[in-house]
Amino acid sequence: MFESKKNKVLKNILIFWCLFIGICALFGGFAMVLEPSGKTFGFIDLLPYFQKLPFADVLFQNFTFSGIALIIVNGTSNMTASLLLLNKNDVIRKKGVLLGMIFGITLMLWITIQFIIFPLNFMSTIYFIFGFLQFITGLLCLIRCKQATFMFNINDYNNIGSDSSKAVIYFSRTGYTRKVAYEIANKIGADIYEIKTKEKISGDLGFWWSGRFGMHKWPMEMEELNIDFTKYREITICTPIWVFAISAPIRMFCKKVGEYGNNYNIKWNYCLVHYMNVEFIKPTEEMDFLMNVKHDKVLNYCCHFGKIKKVDKYDN
Ligand SMILES: Cc1cc2nc3c(=O)[nH]c(=O)nc-3n(C[C@H](O)[C@H](O)[C@H](O)COP(=O)(O)O)c2cc1C
Repeated sequence: MFESKKNKVLKNILIFWCLFIGICALFGGFAMVLEPSGKTFGFIDLLPYFQKLPFADVLFQNFTFSGIALIIVNGTSNMTASLLLLNKNDVIRKKGVLLGMIFGITLMLWITIQFIIFPLNFMSTIYFIFGFLQFITGLLCLIRCKQATFMFNINDYNNIGSDSSKAVIYFSRTGYTRKVAYEIANKIGADIYEIKTKEKISGDLGFWWSGRFGMHKWPMEMEELNIDFTKYREITICTPIWVFAISAPIRMFCKKVGEYGNNYNIKWNYCLVHYMNVEFIKPTEEMDFLMNVKHDKVLNYCCHFGKIKKVDKYDN
């Protein structure tokens, strides 16, 4: 879960935020509790602003209550999250990530009260930003943990290739479409083919590079793929969605099928794999157009955070 370099870095940044915010809160909180008048540490000028709060005549005549609240809400909470994050057990560390993220929100809410009662000031603003950064780091870390639970084992698919009249052809950048393609091929006993691209599409840079092709609706150069189309009566093409359309390598494949002259008696099915929980229609029209065919069935799968969910039924 935390093995990848990126997630380790995110986890360490989150530990930094929890420790930093926790220590600052404990320091400030104890200063208030030990010296409730606020004279020594220069808090005394802030006391009049607290009088706008409910129960001010009981709770905010000195800094005792504010100090205790600061220690509990932002101090011990963040220190607890740091301890959980430093644990070696993945389940406990994941709880630390969740708490770290929640305490980022807590800090933002705490500062929001300060925005309401104090005039705009540097300290409140900077701590609001710290809370926001802590929340974002926790959120990203949590998303990566969820993605790490995604499993694919090629040995789970023993029925592939049992019906030689069917084929599944897929392209996948990050593995979701590959899993969906293998599930389908295994279910119907089809042969399976992977389309590989000559472009560098892995990692963050690869995402932006793919996005460029997606935005321009360009086809992307693919590696040689030898398929004897005369063998098949039914072919399912599985593609991720890129910028609301088919992925660029699948676009190249469809273009080539169309250019080659698609005279085979094949039933074409499409399977669209995407982030959004919707059914895409336009990409199927593009595939039909490029290959000069009329598709039979369309499947939509929505995939995120390591989970794959079917959006529609295999019956249209
Ligand atoms: C360049 C790019 C553009 C994308 N655009 C969309 C989009 O418009 N809508 C969507 O739901 N998902 C979009 N996605 C997300 C992918 O469709 C989704 O993550 C898919 O599951 C990836 O499949 P894969 O793991 O087989 O590569 C995009 C992904 C990339 C790389």
